[in-house]
Amino acid sequence: MSRVYQPSDYVVEKSRLPSFEKYKEMHKKSLEDPEAFWSEIAKEFHWQTPCQPGKFVSYNFDIDKGDIFVKWLEGATTNVCFNVLDRNIRNGHGDKIAYYWEGNHPDDYSRITYKKLLDSVCMFANALRENGVRKGDRVAIYMPMIMETVICMLGCARIGAVHSVVFAGFSPDSLAERMSDCKAKVLVTADGAWRGEKLLVLKKTCDQALEKARTKHNHEVSLCIVVSHLGRVKPCGKMDDIKKLYDWNYNVDVWWHEIMEGQSPICAPEWMNAEDPLFMLYTSGSTGKPKGVLHTIAGYMLYATTTFRYVFDYREKDIYWCTADVGWITGHTYVVYAPLANAATSLMFEGTPFYPDNDRYWSLVEKYKVTQFYTAPTAIRALMKFGDELVTKHNLKTLRVLGSVGEPINPEAWLWFYNLVGNKRCSIVDTFWQTETGGHVLTGLPGASPMKPGAAGFPFFGVEPTLLDESGKVIEGPGEGYLVFSRPWPGIMRTLFGDHARYQKVYFSKFKGYYCTGDGARRDENGFLWVTGRIDDMLNVSGHLLSTSEVEGVLTEEHSVSEAAVVSKPHPVKGESLYCFVILNEGVQFGPELIDALKKRVRNRIGAFAAPDVIQYAPGLPKTRSGKIMRRILRKIALGDTDIGDTSTLADPSVVDELFKSRP
Ligand code: WT7
Repeated sequence: MSRVYQPSDYVVEKSRLPSFEKYKEMHKKSLEDPEAFWSEIAKEFHWQTPCQPGKFVSYNFDIDKGDIFVKWLEGATTNVCFNVLDRNIRNGHGDKIAYYWEGNHPDDYSRITYKKLLDSVCMFANALRENGVRKGDRVAIYMPMIMETVICMLGCARIGAVHSVVFAGFSPDSLAERMSDCKAKVLVTADGAWRGEKLLVLKKTCDQALEKARTKHNHEVSLCIVVSHLGRVKPCGKMDDIKKLYDWNYNVDVWWHEIMEGQSPICAPEWMNAEDPLFMLYTSGSTGKPKGVLHTIAGYMLYATTTFRYVFDYREKDIYWCTADVGWITGHTYVVYAPLANAATSLMFEGTPFYPDNDRYWSLVEKYKVTQFYTAPTAIRALMKFGDELVTKHNLKTLRVLGSVGEPINPEAWLWFYNLVGNKRCSIVDTFWQTETGGHVLTGLPGASPMKPGAAGFPFFGVEPTLLDESGKVIEGPGEGYLVFSRPWPGIMRTLFGDHARYQKVYFSKFKGYYCTGDGARRDENGFLWVTGRIDDMLNVSGHLLSTSEVEGVLTEEHSVSEAAVVSKPHPVKGESLYCFVILNEGVQFGPELIDALKKRVRNRIGAFAAPDVIQYAPGLPKTRSGKIMRRILRKIALGDTDIGDTSTLADPSVVDELFKSRP
């Protein structure tokens, strides 16, 4: 039995939703009458054409009844950029700071107001239009955490272009694959950026990716817009002449500042249909090929806004900080769209928690007087290692809400976050969601929800979670099963870009009538939901989802490897890590060189975050008679746990002993 923590008076006093009863009441209403619930919130926004009553939501989650679809506010027209900027300015927030920006180097910082942000967004939107970008076109973005990234995303939204941000830690191959899949017309990047003392030459990665897109995928990106960033920030490590680090292709490349020059700060927004696409974002799929998750305009805007407001309990003068990179969905929703929609002031941070010192996060909370701090368990675990003094030496009294996202948070990390960072008086919101869900779906609410360390808590408004057993039977009351949802909330994805069949298959075919998350969850005796982790062949390294087959595919590209099997092994900081078994071709030597080559290959092909921790030589793999690899056994071998249970279904049980012997 874990202890229940109640929200402190400090949090409750300021809360817009100060009791659990109130939450339950609102949640009930949101399910009984979705139209009444969401149309009330929609009233705050500008609609060029309002939604007609009765048209608020329609959907089909049952594949037997026809194609899966979800529609919110059909027939309404609006523009997200207009709503998050112009509307706020009209409401008197023009001079309010939208973002404080802090660079990798502590001496680099700036700020931007809502009014100034709108000016830049309009100029960039005009520049895009001038370069032939039209409504519906895709714009790929490969950027560091700088203001131009936000400007670029909103510039796309203003003219109805669909942005497709690729996390700037992905390799040239991954970027090329994603740009080609979405047929991006334009790529926006920066010359480079510092991460701690390391220099990332993004432009070089882009050059390689553009080349690969051309040669491997037969896709030509016609324009590459480059922000000149390195020249304006302080160097944090060794750097040669920037210009020599990459090439300049005069047919394709253009500087951001050059295309911005002379642009008007006024740009008429494109009025979009509620169900037009807003953006797409790739996420790993268990078959290897990334999935282009597509989000649309109106529902996403409503849902992002509402979750932010209640989950972080944002109030007028608060300073909110989400540490996520814009390259992931957390950055899209909770660095860009949701805070802006609420006219919030956010901190955007370019650097790492460890530079110049391991207390950078805490010094930033102090410097900016942060009230809401939203980060990932992997960061918390990494910071715990450096001792409490790095936290206690800073004044963190402004904090009120602490957020966690990306993976289940282990109770030890939760308690450290709660006791030390939050000084026992902040609420922790453990937000469970996915790229696909658009916004939080299971979470606590600061003033309302009791907390248990490690439990994600309760469904957000409009969300109806269900637990199913393997046969699809609903588990009522306490129990554990597949986490699924029986109806759509406004922010759920609408399709996978260019592949609606895969969308239906991946998410709606396992259990008829339900959206299947791919996660397992447990409901305890008090109704708390605990997400127990992936139940498909996916793994979560430092909050980054990867598919085992994706990594296996890369390993077997190495000529000396004939077969590979990848499993997850628990890791004290990263949550999970990659443990790889490789079967080698005849005559190949297994040793440090090959291990190195394989690790490098995965880094280069996917990205640094995917680097395997262990490569083990495997004389064979534990397979069933039908040839399926029993990963359950491989996970035990990775752990060195000899209690492997029944092996009678294996074609050759002796392989298990051999694998234990060949553990490194
Ligand atoms: C997967 C989604 C949503 C933002 C970041 C990741 C895991 C995410 C939690 C949490 C337990 C969590 C799930 C989920 N996950 N948040 N609070 N507790 N698990 O987005 O890359 O789409 O990954 O991350 O396994 O399915 P994503």
